[in-house]
Amino acid sequence: MAIAVGDLNPRPTAAVDSQWRRIVTPIPVPESIPMIERLRAAEPRSMAGMPPIVWHEAEGFLVRDAFGNQWIDLTSGIVVANAGHSHPRILDAIRAAIDQKLLATYAFSSNARLQLVEKLVALSPIPNSKAILFSSGTEATECMISLMRGRGRQINPHKVAILGFTNHYHGRTLGAQLAGGQSLDWIDRERVHYLQMPFPNFQNSCEDKSADALFESFLTHLSERGVDPDQIAGLILEPAPGTTTEPIPRDFGAALAAWARRHDVLIGFDEIQCGCGRTGTFFACEQTGMTPDLIALGKGLTSSLPVSAVLGPADILDQAEPGEMSSTHGGNPVCAAAALANLQVIEEEHLVEASARTGARVRERLRSFADEFPASVRSVNGVGLFISIHFHQPDGQPDVELADALALEAVRSGVLMFTTGRGYLKFTPPLSIDPAAADEAADVIRECFARVTNGEDR
Ligand SMILES: Cc1ncc(COP(=O)(O)O)c(C=O)c1O
Repeated sequence: MAIAVGDLNPRPTAAVDSQWRRIVTPIPVPESIPMIERLRAAEPRSMAGMPPIVWHEAEGFLVRDAFGNQWIDLTSGIVVANAGHSHPRILDAIRAAIDQKLLATYAFSSNARLQLVEKLVALSPIPNSKAILFSSGTEATECMISLMRGRGRQINPHKVAILGFTNHYHGRTLGAQLAGGQSLDWIDRERVHYLQMPFPNFQNSCEDKSADALFESFLTHLSERGVDPDQIAGLILEPAPGTTTEPIPRDFGAALAAWARRHDVLIGFDEIQCGCGRTGTFFACEQTGMTPDLIALGKGLTSSLPVSAVLGPADILDQAEPGEMSSTHGGNPVCAAAALANLQVIEEEHLVEASARTGARVRERLRSFADEFPASVRSVNGVGLFISIHFHQPDGQPDVELADALALEAVRSGVLMFTTGRGYLKFTPPLSIDPAAADEAADVIRECFARVTNGEDR
């Protein structure tokens, strides 16, 4: 029974009552429909892309509505709640910051900002690092782009081009969209010096291509497009893209890094989604063997309020004059306190190690499901709790309908997932998830598959 995300007709559900999941109403919940409809009337259509449930409370790895339903959360609020939702330490830090009666400081100094940037500098794998804070991820990627271009222009006035990869996402502001893989048919990227390169399909390629061969095709692509590498200021990429959840192979990364060094191209890693322990190491760059010039963090940096950051060496971050690179709410004292508490929780509760351990266990479970249905499940990818399950049709194309139907069926069964519209599911729970709950969620996906396809491999 395929249901579209936009469909607001309540469907009966089978009652679910496990240790962690509880479904006691039809989905969508009939009483919630007027609220969803009012949201849809007041907001643009773009905001209506999630399964039709209304979040009321989120705690640890559980999300609840106000109607008695409870889900195991495999979304983390789209990869935000790495330390778990509403962690008591983070709530206490936010309360203490509020009680201090310091809610906004602009760029005036505050102890909360000091504590957070010093912590980030200590964590940074980049030598001689500094850190600057923003609110949204897209501000951080824009900042990396500006820094890379500023540095390029110091070398040569024409060294301003930004190289990005298809299927990598860097946010919704214009520069971030130009650098990312979204289609933008109203603007000629190249005229504004953004170059889009095909990203090698490391996992799902039928061709057995070595990293050397894939890197050669990267170089060929550049030269066929007449791109002079010496005019490229920077390369921005997700070291483990959100679409494949698989880190860039080390040998490809090494070739890319050597090429970038040769041509003075800065490498900016967008770790907004894959950072902060998500992949089983604190920084996703550790998975790739590369040390980038700049790193952008966001999302899981607070597990809660909006904070993002750019890390990089003093000689790159110090380009802008005092007052020329900042943001009104960057380092907001309440948000900074939440981020600091979040980093302490990730460290003290060993959530990076938990991510690696629980992720390995879940992947094994999901892979045995994939082995059972090879005609439908193309691959189970990822590291740590950054996992994706890819579905394909007989002709090899992504099976968007199946993946999205499965996400909605999982929601109806007490496992919270989101539709991607691209033929895959993401398995990205809080890193603190009880491993038995992660197993249960993986088993529910398997059961949903049987229900959606009548147990048949396509
Ligand atoms: C890899 C990556 N970069 C950048 C962004 C943009 O972050 P924000 O939505 O906070 O602006 C996102 C958000 O999904 C992301 O996943």
